[in-house]
Amino acid sequence: MGCGTGANLPHLRERVEPDGRVIGVDITRPLLDRAAERVREYDNVAVVQGDAARPPIEDADAVLGTFVCGLFGDPATIVEDWCDLVGDGGRIALMDAAATDDPLGWPLNPLFRAFVAAGAPSSGVADVLRAPFGRFDAPLSRRVADARAAVADRAVDRRYETFGLGFVGLLSGRVR
Ligand SMILES: C[S@@+](CC[C@H](N)C(=O)[O-])C[C@H]1O[C@@H](n2cnc3c(N)ncnc32)[C@H](O)[C@@H]1O
Repeated sequence: MGCGTGANLPHLRERVEPDGRVIGVDITRPLLDRAAERVREYDNVAVVQGDAARPPIEDADAVLGTFVCGLFGDPATIVEDWCDLVGDGGRIALMDAAATDDPLGWPLNPLFRAFVAAGAPSSGVADVLRAPFGRFDAPLSRRVADARAAVADRAVDRRYETFGLGFVGLLSGRVR
């Protein structure tokens, strides 16, 4: 969900093997066009334009969302819907970035906040300069936490891994 330019799609294709099928969903046409180009040679990979909040897919064994849940207004509801989509025994995995608790990465949190501010459509230069000293990332961190809480609520056999000094977290599990 929110496959963007499709960076994950070739890797997912490797995991599902020839009999499986991978579908990338994204709302942004130009990004999806690049994803379509990336997977053009694969018969069992398709991309479709749609809203991940109302996925144009009726059934799936697994859902992966990387760096997308932080963009949703109500990520918990959307993640719950994804859990319903995959059903009992289905897999869900979310990778997202948020401020880190890792002591090694902690000094870089101000930089992360500036990065978040720079990426926000409504922010200007002053916001980016102010961001390191405030909690500009708080809404993003809340949305990421809400999405992860929804997985924790619905999935078992969960695994949580962090990357990049704890700024990036990957939470996966099997829906009960
Ligand atoms: C930061 S990019 C991540 C792209 C990709 N998952 C990756 O890791 O390379 C976020 C993507 O989510 C997509 N997106 C945002 N809101 C969406 C929605 N409601 N439905 C589907 N895609 C959405 C954007 O168009 C964008 O491609």
